Amino acid sequence: AGTGKFFVGGNWKCNGSKESITKLVSDLNSATLEPDVDVVVAPPFVYLDMVKNSLTDRIEISAQNSWISKGGAFTGEISVEQLKDIGCKWVILGHSERRHVIGETDQFIGKKAAYALNQGLGVIACIGELLEEREAGKTFDVCFKQLKAYADAIPSWDAVVIAYEPVWAIGTGKVATPQQAQEVHVACRDWLKKNVSPEVASKTRIIYGGSVNGSNCAELAKQEDIDGFLVGGASLKGPEFAIIVNSVT
Ligand code: G3P
Repeated sequence: AGTGKFFVGGNWKCNGSKESITKLVSDLNSATLEPDVDVVVAPPFVYLDMVKNSLTDRIEISAQNSWISKGGAFTGEISVEQLKDIGCKWVILGHSERRHVIGETDQFIGKKAAYALNQGLGVIACIGELLEEREAGKTFDVCFKQLKAYADAIPSWDAVVIAYEPVWAIGTGKVATPQQAQEVHVACRDWLKKNVSPEVASKTRIIYGGSVNGSNCAELAKQEDIDGFLVGGASLKGPEFAIIVNSVT
């Protein structure tokens, strides 16, 4: 971990029911969490309000997506204004499942990030390469192109956390090695230094996501440029998520 405050997010994706989420919230409420870590969970939209009203204030709430502009006649979408209305502080944007399953483009994601930031939400801005892109030696190019789309659109990096999630590591059990993750994090920091500013490069937290669990988090957390995690599957288990939150010490 670097010098910034460690940041751990739990992305629950499209998982859970009233029953399982009630249990998860109660496990999180009774977990002991290191004080010097930002902890955020992202429940599915339909459970956001329920989680916000039952979860300890120690943990902030994130959405998993938001609409690109002010709400209105956009069937099926959820606006940033509505998220703020229920006490949501963050939104995850650019997740690989939205890029590669739903087909969201770099530019569309950049605009969504800009809108959310302008309205005062924090953005967990995801980037990451596909397996074939890694094998073709294009990892840095892909990540830099995705970073550039954010940089071109957003007003400031103050409320942005970058989540590097190599697509081949997501939900596969194939976690990136600490060295593989560190290498990309350093390259992204360097990109920020050259293309945004040295200040943004040193202040912006870059977290890692992709098959992080209670057993592999400690080694990853030792890397100098890994400032936290974005956790999928393992965030659905309260005690394991707490281990990941506490892995920085
Ligand atoms: O956003 C978190 C994520 O994509 C990682 O998922 O299940 O591999 O931890 P998982």
